[in-house]
Order: sequence, then structure tokens, then C-alpha cells
Amino acid sequence: MPVVRTLTRTVKQVLKSPVCGCQTVTSVRSIGVSPRQVTSDASFHSVSFSEADHPRVLITGGLGQLGVGLAKLLRKRFGKNNVILSDIRKPPDNVFYSGPFIYSDILDYKNLREIVVNNRITWLIHYSALLSAVGEANVPLARAVNITGLHNILDIAAEHGLRLFVPSTIGAFGPTSPRNPTPDLCIQRPRTIYGVSKVHAELMGEYYHYRYGLDFRCLRYPGIISADSQPGGGTTDYAVQIFHDAIKTGRFVCNLKPDTRLPMMYIDDCLRATVEVLEAPTESLTMRTYNINAMSFSPEELAQEVQKHLPELEVAYNVDAVRQAIADSWPMNFDDNNARKDWGWKHEYDLPELVTTMLGYLNPERLAAQAQA
Ligand SMILES: NC(=O)c1ccc[n+]([C@@H]2O[C@H](COP(=O)([O-])OP(=O)(O)OC[C@H]3O[C@@H](n4cnc5c(N)ncnc54)[C@H](O)[C@@H]3O)[C@@H](O)[C@H]2O)c1
Repeated sequence: MPVVRTLTRTVKQVLKSPVCGCQTVTSVRSIGVSPRQVTSDASFHSVSFSEADHPRVLITGGLGQLGVGLAKLLRKRFGKNNVILSDIRKPPDNVFYSGPFIYSDILDYKNLREIVVNNRITWLIHYSALLSAVGEANVPLARAVNITGLHNILDIAAEHGLRLFVPSTIGAFGPTSPRNPTPDLCIQRPRTIYGVSKVHAELMGEYYHYRYGLDFRCLRYPGIISADSQPGGGTTDYAVQIFHDAIKTGRFVCNLKPDTRLPMMYIDDCLRATVEVLEAPTESLTMRTYNINAMSFSPEELAQEVQKHLPELEVAYNVDAVRQAIADSWPMNFDDNNARKDWGWKHEYDLPELVTTMLGYLNPERLAAQAQA
């Protein structure tokens, strides 16, 4: 027999447990209006099941630069089978055999809901998106995936009492925002479809939080640098490519001007921040969208740091007008004091550690030889 017949009568569960957010029955808020009409026989067992130990996590868009690494981290913490990766692409063997993977197109609302219900999902980590440069090249698709897709995610999360994480970005700011540093709360008038869709996500998530009690959590990531996954078409991609080119060819052509300063972060810090904000006790969060920061550098400064290890590296500049215009409208530095104060955010990687780690990862033999010399 269905437990709850309409969302009008559904009492939301507060996600009390700092870790799994999937337990306790204390209600904070009644949903007066359904965020989306649901069929009268819909069953919401998943709202109130008492699985005390671990969250059951679904990651959308999980085959991009960040999803596989996050799944690995969460699986270590919560168990392999409690973390499901999903995407619309075919996973490579190593991903497919490392834990549960499922096809999920975020534009298919019914399929998404089925996955959440059948797998008793309690945390939804929404990584699907078209990034800045790719989005400008296909605005209708970016609008569909980043905005319509987000609406599906919000409704599913609200209906099923999920803890929802949606990443935002430095790209959610624009040329009229203060750029050095950029605080959490200031004017946001981005000029890319990516940025517009991320401001929309921040505002909609916060609105659903206040209106429906959705446990929405959002971090504005800087440009993320990783060694074992490729970036997905963002403006900060150069900061990953330089390492590959430095090692493979000894020559790097940068598509941004040498003095273009942007906030950046090593992937381990980014993924750890994500887990930390997801686990933060509700009462510690004075906001629902936080800047997080680690370092800020220009292509010139990054190249100089790489050249300390690989002095033969040659760097040339062939500026891409679209990416440069985007970068020129973004923050140069992020103020993340609220994240540090509220839930104890602290980065571990600055520029020298980042460069050593990237080169060590991509070329371990060379670094080992250097250390012995
Ligand atoms: N990587 C960064 O530097 C960075 C910085 C700031 C914010 N972010 C945000 O973090 C999230 C993850 O970033 P990423 O770098 O891994 O992105 P990515 O571009 O590498 O991966 C995005 C994934 O979304 C998938 N996708 C596209 N359309 C889909 C659909 N209809 N249904 C389901 N999946 C779909 C793609 O197949 C892809 O695997 C994104 O939301 C991004 O905006 C990333």
C-alpha cells in the first residue's frame, strides 16, 4: 500500500545525521505545493526508510573530469555498492569494473526517478553539465542540460528528500562582479550560458531549500587541475594541458594571455571539500552556496613553476578570443572565508605542491631520478 499519496501531505524529513542524511524522522517543514505533479499512486518509501549507516549516492555526469575521482573517494568511505556513477557515455573498462555504473540522461525525468527509487538513493551529486567553452559553442544544448536538466534534479531531490549537491563555478560571476577578491555575496551578471545556468542553479537550489526544505548544498569550484582525468571544455583547461605537453613534447601553446589570473585548485582538495560540505552538520551551514579557494595564478606563473622542474619547456601564446573574453570576466581570486569559518574548509595544495604532484603523477620515473641526483 502506498505510504504517502500526495506531496501535499508529505512531511519532509530533516536530514539530521551529519554523515548519511538519510535517517531521522523529525519534520521541519510541510510541502504545501508539489514542485512537480506526481501520480497519485506514487510511493515515497525512500523518504523515510531507516538505513542508518551510509548514504546511498548517485553521481550524475560521472564520467567527466571529476566524477570518477569523487566516486573513488566516496566508495572508500561508504562502501563500493553505496555509490552509483551515471552518465550518458559508455564507461571505460576500469570504471565499469570498479563499482556500480548506470545509464542516466538527466533530461529523462522518469528514468532519473526510477533510478533514485529503485536504488534508494539518499544523496544526489549532480555533475552533469556543459562547461564554459563547450556551452558557448552549443547554447541550446547547454541550456537544456544545465537548466532543464537541473529542474529535473531539483524536483526529484525535493520529492524524495535527498541531500543534493550541485557544483557552481567562478564562471557564475561576470565583469561587473568584484574580481580580486570575489566574495560569496556580490553582483552576479555572467556573460556565458554556463555562468547564467550556474547562477540559476544557485538561486533555484536556495529557493527550493527555503520553499520546500530541500537540503541543497553548493560549492563554487575554481578551475580544477587533475592528472588522471581530462578537462571537459572549460576556460581553465590550459592549466591541465601544460603538464601533458611539457612532458610529451616540451612545448606548450597557451590559449590565454600570459597574465590572465584565475582561481585554481588541485582535484584532491576539490573532492575533499565536496565530501566535507556534504557531511557538514546542517546547523553549521549559514549559507547554501560557498566559494572555495586554494590558489590563484596566471599562465606565466604556472609556466615558471613548471620550468623549475623542466627548464627546457618552451611556452608560446596563441590567444583564443572566446576563452580570453570569458577569463577576463571571471574572478582573479576568490574570498572563501565563510567556508573556512562555517565548516572548516582548508586547502592543502598551493602552486609548488600542485606542480610537483602533477609532474610526479604524470612522470614518476623522472622525478624519482631527480630526487636521487
Ligand atoms: N572541472 C572544473 O574545472 C570545474 C570547475 C567548476 C565547476 N565544475 C562543475 O563540476 C561538475 C563536473 O565537472 P566536470 O569537469 O567533471 O565536467 P565534464 O564536462 O568533464 O563532465 C560532464 C559530464 O556530464 C555528462 N553529460 C552531458 N549531458 C548529459 C546528460 N544529458 N545527462 C547526463 N550526463 C550528461 C557528460 O557526458 C560528461 O561526462 C560540472 O557541473 C561543472 O560545471 C567543474
